[in-house]
This record gives sequence, structure tokens and C-alpha cells, in this order.
Amino acid sequence: MRKPFIAGNWKMHKNIQEATSYGELLLHKIREAGVDSDKVEIGLFVPYIHLSALSIIFDLSGVGVGAQNMFYEDKGAYTGEISPSMLSDLGIRHTIIGHSERRQYFGETDEACARKIRAAYAHDIEPVLCVGEDLEDREAGKYEDTVRTMLLGSLKDVAPEETEHLTVAYEPVWAIGTGKTATTEQAQEMAAFIRTVLADRYGSDRADQIRIQYGGSVKPENIAELMSMPDIDGALVGGASLDAEKFMKIIAYDDALLGKESKRVRMIPSSARS
Ligand code: 13P
Repeated sequence: MRKPFIAGNWKMHKNIQEATSYGELLLHKIREAGVDSDKVEIGLFVPYIHLSALSIIFDLSGVGVGAQNMFYEDKGAYTGEISPSMLSDLGIRHTIIGHSERRQYFGETDEACARKIRAAYAHDIEPVLCVGEDLEDREAGKYEDTVRTMLLGSLKDVAPEETEHLTVAYEPVWAIGTGKTATTEQAQEMAAFIRTVLADRYGSDRADQIRIQYGGSVKPENIAELMSMPDIDGALVGGASLDAEKFMKIIAYDDALLGKESKRVRMIPSSARS
């Protein structure tokens, strides 16, 4: 059974004040709703400058605070970069690798992703590897080839047993920040395709354990339908994760994920309430 993994990616948003008040509000809402961390994993990928403060806020809460990128070298003359050992030193256990915005604006290649994933594993940091085709490849019908190349290139040095700590996010570039979600069928079709590529590479037992998220205009209105698909195990949420209330609605897409805490609260007899 793959545990659903719902994660927010703030991208380059929020100042310190906004980040901490969001963190406190989300933590409060997660506790109030009684989100059961045995049933759903929550992640929040934030700008580096917020990692420390948010890690403290979410300490022991079951919410994993992660980075949006990292370099593959441990230290050296790499102005502007952040290393895996620096993240690990902060207690960070998750990072996004190869987001399409990194590929598009910063020239990140599959080779660089492969090196970053190696470095992440060397520091016990779990990567969320992003793959997805652009509109041109979608319209030319080349989307499967593109995604296969990205996967195999980025995972080329990943051993079968390391896939236990791997998440893949399918994020079609044409659906990111555009309000244009892939249809549920398109998202499922590609998640299933990704699983087939992973099965060819690692065997179907391993592939069946790897979580595949969908990302691209996920919102409270479409999360439940996406999550009902057999190969979609989570979501990587951009814009809608910037608002704690909206993100909370996405996390709580299914009442079954809300645990004992909320049931206990609901069961307090009305006479006992003020
Ligand atoms: P949006 O949810 O804003 O489309 O962004 C998706 C994304 O890029 C998450 O990594």
C-alpha cells in the first residue's frame, strides 16, 4: 500500500513574517482536523531562508519541511549554491530535484539531476524527482519519449533498493501555473506509464512501491478525483499551497485521512461544550 503524499511547493514566494504565520496556521489546522500521519504524508517545499523557522514550527508534527533544489557538491567555490550537507545539518530530509522551472530557467539537465539524486541519498535526503513534457512535445505526441528519457537519465545511478526513498512527480509543463489541469485520465495515463518505465528498470515489485505525484494546477476542487486514480499517489501543489486554508482542503481531500483526534472532538457532548 502506497501512503498518499501531498506536498506544497511555495516556489519563490513569502517573506519571513508570511512564512511563519502560514506555518503556525497550517499546523493549527492540521491538528484541529486530526490529520492522521499514518494515513497521509504531508510535505512543504519552501525557499531556503525559511527552512529553519518552518522546521521548528513543524517539529514532530509529521509535516516534512524540504528544499526546492540543492547542488550536488558538498562544499567549494560554488557561489550561490546550497549543498546537501548544509541541508542535512539543518535536519532537512526532503528535496525536490529537477523541477521544470529549474530545467527551463537554470539549464538543469538529466545528468545534473542524476548527480543531485546521488548526493541526496549520500546524505539521507529523499528526492522528489520531477518529470514532465512541454506543450510542444504533448502536441507532437512525443510526451512518453520525453518523460522516459528524463526518468532514465535522472535515475541512471539509482540502485533498486534506493527507490524505497524515491518519489516521482509527473508535472506536465503546460499545466503548471496555467490553471489548465491535465484531465484526470491524462494524469493517470502518464502515472501508469511512469510506473511501467520504473518496472522495466527496477522490476514491478519495486515500481509498485514508488509513489507518483501529479502536479499542475491542483486545487481543492480537483484533488479528490485525481487521488481516486490507481497510479496517482499524491500531489505536488504550487499556487494553491500558498494559502494555508486552500492547502488544508487539499490535504484533507478524504475524510478517511482524518484520525482519532477529530472524531474525539466531534464526540464531545454538546452539554459539555461552552
Ligand atoms: P501549480 O500548482 O501552481 O500549477 O504548480 C505546480 C508545480 O509546479 C508544483 O511543483
